[in-house]
Amino acid sequence: MCGIVAYVGDRDCTPILVGGLKRLEYRGYDSSGLAVRTQDGGIEVVRSVGKLQRLEAALAAHPLFGTDGIGHTRWATHGRPNETNAHPHAAGSVVLVHNGIVENHVALRAELEAEGVRFASETDTEVLAHLIAKAVDGGAPNLETAVRRAITRVQGSYALAVMSTKERGKIVVAKNDSPLILAHNEGEAFAASDIPAILPHVPEVLILEDGEVATLERAGITITDANGERVVRQPHRVSWSLVESGKGGFKHYMLKEIHEQPRALEHTIRGRISSDGGDVVLPESGLTPETAKEIRRVCFIACGSSSNAALTGRYWMEQLGGVRASVEVGSEVRYRDAIFGPEDLVVAISQSGETADTLAALRTAREAGARVLAIVNVRDSAIARASDGVLYTHAGPEVAVASTKCFTAQLAALLLLAVHVGRTRGSLSHAEGRRILEALKRVPGQVRTILANARGVRGIAKKHHQSKSMLVLGRGPSYPVALETALKVKEISYIHAEGYAAGEMKHGPIALVDETMPVVVLCPQDRHHDKTLSNMQEVMARGAKIIVVCTKDDAELTAMAAVRARLAASPDGSEPPPSSRPHPGNVDVIEIPDARSEVLPLLTVVPMQLLSYNLALLQGRDVDQPRNLAKTVTVE
Ligand code: AGP
Repeated sequence: MCGIVAYVGDRDCTPILVGGLKRLEYRGYDSSGLAVRTQDGGIEVVRSVGKLQRLEAALAAHPLFGTDGIGHTRWATHGRPNETNAHPHAAGSVVLVHNGIVENHVALRAELEAEGVRFASETDTEVLAHLIAKAVDGGAPNLETAVRRAITRVQGSYALAVMSTKERGKIVVAKNDSPLILAHNEGEAFAASDIPAILPHVPEVLILEDGEVATLERAGITITDANGERVVRQPHRVSWSLVESGKGGFKHYMLKEIHEQPRALEHTIRGRISSDGGDVVLPESGLTPETAKEIRRVCFIACGSSSNAALTGRYWMEQLGGVRASVEVGSEVRYRDAIFGPEDLVVAISQSGETADTLAALRTAREAGARVLAIVNVRDSAIARASDGVLYTHAGPEVAVASTKCFTAQLAALLLLAVHVGRTRGSLSHAEGRRILEALKRVPGQVRTILANARGVRGIAKKHHQSKSMLVLGRGPSYPVALETALKVKEISYIHAEGYAAGEMKHGPIALVDETMPVVVLCPQDRHHDKTLSNMQEVMARGAKIIVVCTKDDAELTAMAAVRARLAASPDGSEPPPSSRPHPGNVDVIEIPDARSEVLPLLTVVPMQLLSYNLALLQGRDVDQPRNLAKTVTVE
């Protein structure tokens, strides 16, 4: 989604703003722009379509020098991604940038047009610029009052940074449902959509809350509430280092983040297993033994990859936690008149902690009396703050749009939670809890083994990167991994892929299978193994090209793959007809280490992330910033 950076100080602001926007690139964008106050007090704007290199080229042709300015990367919602619609937008003395959606922009635009205002762009944002300019012209004593007056007219979400030619050395920011953080150093002030944008400049940040307005000046930051009353806010220390948010020698952030999974998982697990190894300690969850016993249902709410993690969590919560569990997609549950009550534990899962649909849904559940626990990666994010308790995944910053290490860290947190609930409610014995937790502790090492032996995945990707479509099958907890694999393949390689519960194949999707269709089968050693193997044979019999993920030394599968290889080598017509034997061709086998069934999803997904990555690479895609996607989805 859109990214905002604002600076007031003594330094040349253009490199600070462009540098900040570069560190927000992961959010996804299709145009960008800068507004800088010049020596004579005017404000100049430079905008461009496409990547930030194009903005840099535009700035080389038309340099902007000044010590206060605002920058923006736009992810188009209202109006095409062209230069006219790119931010900043100007109206009268006012220039601003905006992240979010003005939901009542049609009515406001009509009202302003009736008053004689002429719009330059198709955006909803320009309405805001005109409303603020109108408040300035209407006698607002200062820019912050004009902003406060204007936002009372607006429905929807916004993070704003506003400058005025009438007030030098000042930038006013405001927010509702879109993130904005602030920071102050000796003689300079910053605002940004996310911490990495200003991380090189400040050790601490302040979080602006919904409805608040802040004034950035060299002397400091003043925060006021909706009534203009002064708000005192304590800063938070930033713990992520810049080193961590660089590419660290990897070609892409996604590849780096895939390889960071062992460490990320260690961080998620660390300090959360009791000293005797049989229990989970989660004081920050806010779940006491009493409240855990009162839970009648666990409802997971999430979007995208996080909802695939939630589906896996449902299996664990019912099996280990002994509680009825359901999964809801944020965008659906918020409008479904869903029934929540005090007996529900709602677990909101989000990497960014800012996903608008998840946030709105958890608020609805909380208003209805449900206890809300957040599983998030970003400290003090909106979802963390809106919940009764928080389990941080501690995976470190995830920059690539496609989630990898945050997904596996969510799985680890969900398994810990299920064991915790099971132990507290008595549905899981201490001995069994210890065996599961021992298995979880081995996972980081096993992921290292998978990554060290993953060279073959690129070869498999080479065979299939020109495929038009792909199926991914799994049963039990491998089913959400199938969904996650398909999502990953789609979002970064743009190859159409669908994940299915393997048992569903014969209810329709098997009609798609022919000799051109690669089918990934997730078939690790668990209680679903034999049934999945049968489903695999059904698609093999119809000619599919199989990629199977199985436990190391799976004798049955190895034998089956060998038969296929033999048949492929001598298709002499003497074999039985295709309906009764595996179709000639090859089976590609990807092995994972032997592990307890509970932790298998944390292992099977890793080679699938690498497969998606390699498919995208071979397709020449923009792996870290796939088209049309944003890292943090702050609009619904
Ligand atoms: C994952 O690869 C996606 N890009 C996307 O589905 C993401 O998981 C979804 O938007 C939810 O984000 P969140 O975890 O930050 O809430």
